[in-house]
Amino acid sequence: MVARLVALNVGLPIDVPWHGASVHTGIWKRPVDGRRLVRRLNIEGDGQGDLAGHGGVHRAVLVYQVDSYRHWAEHLGRADLTYGQFGENFTVDGLPDDEVCIGDRYRIGEAVFEVSQPRVTCYRLGIRMDEPQMAALLVSHRRPGFYLRVLTEGYVEAGEEVIKVSSPSESVTVAEIDALLYLHEHPREQLARALRVDALSPGWKASLRALLEQADGGEAKGGNVGLTTAASSPPPAWPGFRPLTIAAVHHETSSVMSLRLVAADGTALPTPRPGQYLTVRLVVDSGATVVRSYSLSGPPSAGDYRISVKREVGGIASRHLHATAAPGQTIEAAAPRGTFTLAPGAAPVALVSAGVGVTPVLAMLYGLVAEGSTRPVWWVHGARNGSEHPFAAEARGLLDQLPGARSLICYSSPSADDRLDDPDVRVGHVTGDVIARLGLPTDAHVYLCGPARFMADLTAALSEFGVDIDHLHTESFGTLAAITPGVVGAPDGPPRLPEGPPGTGPAVTFARSGLTARWDDHYGAILELAEACRVPVRWSCRTGVCHTCETGLVSGQVEYEPEPIDAPAAGNVLVCCARPTGDLVVDL
Ligand SMILES: Cc1cc2nc3c(=O)[nH]c(=O)nc-3n(C[C@H](O)[C@H](O)[C@H](O)COP(=O)(O)OP(=O)(O)OC[C@H]3O[C@@H](n4cnc5c(N)ncnc54)[C@H](O)[C@@H]3O)c2cc1C
Ligand code: FES
Repeated sequence: MVARLVALNVGLPIDVPWHGASVHTGIWKRPVDGRRLVRRLNIEGDGQGDLAGHGGVHRAVLVYQVDSYRHWAEHLGRADLTYGQFGENFTVDGLPDDEVCIGDRYRIGEAVFEVSQPRVTCYRLGIRMDEPQMAALLVSHRRPGFYLRVLTEGYVEAGEEVIKVSSPSESVTVAEIDALLYLHEHPREQLARALRVDALSPGWKASLRALLEQADGGEAKGGNVGLTTAASSPPPAWPGFRPLTIAAVHHETSSVMSLRLVAADGTALPTPRPGQYLTVRLVVDSGATVVRSYSLSGPPSAGDYRISVKREVGGIASRHLHATAAPGQTIEAAAPRGTFTLAPGAAPVALVSAGVGVTPVLAMLYGLVAEGSTRPVWWVHGARNGSEHPFAAEARGLLDQLPGARSLICYSSPSADDRLDDPDVRVGHVTGDVIARLGLPTDAHVYLCGPARFMADLTAALSEFGVDIDHLHTESFGTLAAITPGVVGAPDGPPRLPEGPPGTGPAVTFARSGLTARWDDHYGAILELAEACRVPVRWSCRTGVCHTCETGLVSGQVEYEPEPIDAPAAGNVLVCCARPTGDLVVDL
């Protein structure tokens, strides 16, 4: 059968009301008559709202099939579907997802196209279809549709034939590659074959490469590393919280105090990855239970854990610990977790911190010493002055054991006692300029931890100097930046309890936000409760496909509705489709 372009649909982004805010989206496409010029990035009169998720040379033209319209009309019982409904530019008769291969080339009218990747569905299709689960349905029914890149620009018109020009030597269909990323099975051979298809878009290649590396690593951790780095750390060593005993308290400076924690029965605690953190649950003087996280600052293989807490002015947990922590006391802790960990390999490493942000990178320094590393290492730390510089001697001792190590300490407000004639000490803050003068190689892995502003400035500076963005690792001591694609004008402000009477369901604690709210069944998922609390959230499909919302489940259990297409990693939860079945703590 000859394939045919049945409708050519275009539309510019518009703002549509959604959940008390607006969504800027280009998903509303309508058929147009006559010829339209198709260029590398767009069809004349067409546009995408969110260029992070759609558009660009590899996602210039979206294709969907008439046969899938028939399928959805029947499955959803809908008689109102009109061409352009799925946000596609080309509605085609023919070209099914299970026959079209990535790299196939087609001529339509004057233009030549190449199939670059399956469609990536997000919540906006759910809005357009008035069917919130549409993103998940497209994947589970294996009818994603696909994107074309434009090889030859030219005029195209509805009604024209779609003529196949060539096929790649390695054939992998759109449906096959979509399933490879999103569904539960990720067979190694198929991943390797898909990665041999040159025409596959770079984004998809990166995802499949991550899955292949996981398969090659032989670690059965569950979760989907092709979709989220949140799935890349090993499962937590124990579920929920367990009591640990404070074995020692040590004051590093007047405001930073370390606690050494051991198992109550004296056995060695599971070895964390250097850079991971503990989440602790404390009952403070007011009787309130608070949950806070602290990076492990000691040698990872010691069999005990060390956390180092800075006393914050007006801080509930840190003041409580500074005032009351003593050897012999018990503290409840969840197992070490986190993906801010030292990447293995021989590449140079820069450990860059400010203030108490030194804790996770100090653990990494211990890790490098323990493995006898010969990697070039830069240790850069910013403190106010020598009296507020925790672990100065300890770090120096570790650096002396690393043959390739260099150190730079920046004091922003040095005191008279500080030895400013030391060539490793400078006056000032750790800034982009300071980092530029280090002469870091561009293949260095840089680990940054400190105040939000420090990390944002240095991340920008390092990217400018050509350090690969995939080699920039950051740890935030607060909430993570929100990902809310296309949403404009959402209510702003610090986390707080939702307005109106509290729910009567389980207590849901958002650990990074320091907030506990009661669940109520009118929330569809934990994500909606978090949004009602103004907790910064990260999501894209809102229906269990993309794993953007994958979050640490520190304690408690959930049930899913709908079931995710692929399960999150052990110890994590997909908050967009999960509801609590009892009290829980999530790392939001
Ligand atoms: C992954 C991770 C690792 C971390 N590692 C460390 C670590 O190694 N060491 C460490 O010290 N900390 C670390 N933290 C931070 C730690 O979890 C706590 O956030 C920190 O100890 C402050 O908690 P708190 O209860 O003392 O302060 P909070 O009571 O939570 O208050 C925090 C600050 O906000 C101010 N504040 C509180 N309420 C208000 C308000 N309504 N308006 C304005 N200001 C307000 C307080 O005065 C205080 O300065 C880490 C956090 C994370 C997420
Ligand atoms: S937002 Fe996509 S899986 Fe949760």
